[in-house]
Amino acid sequence: MQDYRQFLDEILIPEEVLQARVVELAEQISADYQGKDLHLICILRGGVVFLTDLMRHLTVPNTLDFMAVSSYGFTRQSTGQVRITLDLKDDIHNRNVLLVEDIVDSGYTIASVLEFLNTRHPNSLRVCTMLDKPERREVDVPIHYFGFRIPNKFVFGYGLDMDGYYRNLPFIATVDLNRYHPEG
Ligand code: IMP
Ligand code: MG
Repeated sequence: MQDYRQFLDEILIPEEVLQARVVELAEQISADYQGKDLHLICILRGGVVFLTDLMRHLTVPNTLDFMAVSSYGFTRQSTGQVRITLDLKDDIHNRNVLLVEDIVDSGYTIASVLEFLNTRHPNSLRVCTMLDKPERREVDVPIHYFGFRIPNKFVFGYGLDMDGYYRNLPFIATVDLNRYHPEG
């Protein structure tokens, strides 16, 4: 695995800025769901780092479940077709569901997941994403909570990977693809 410093372009969102924003989002969500139970659904794997930080600052009662999806194809672009690779453990009928995602890019992932979850009739269904890349949007999706809008650049860290690695980095950075050599 290449040291990320070799292909780092710039640190787009430093750790302190991320953490402060996560607290703000958790406060906003807690206020909006006051008096209700919140059922968090994290989309694996990219959403986990954001989820675990976010949930620690929630003040409303909450439960947690996971699902995983994968887009067909192997490029860094979504192809528009999304497959559910891990289904939920719990029924979401009549629950207040908040989907927690790392990034909304083309929008295909969230659009498919929303369509899938709506067939199970939750009481409410909202989307919370750490990052939003609006320039790349190909399908319109509702985003109720977002951490940051970012430009159309490939990013890594804070849950987002490059070929599986670097998810643990506490900041979000852009990559210089000319200097990135996954084979070492
Ligand atoms: P969408 O279906 O195009 O909205 O893409 C969503 C998924 O693509 C995200 O959940 C990420 O896993 C991945 N993705 C999109 N942009 C980036 C990026 O800049 N870095 C890492 N992963 C990304
Ligand atoms: Mg993801």
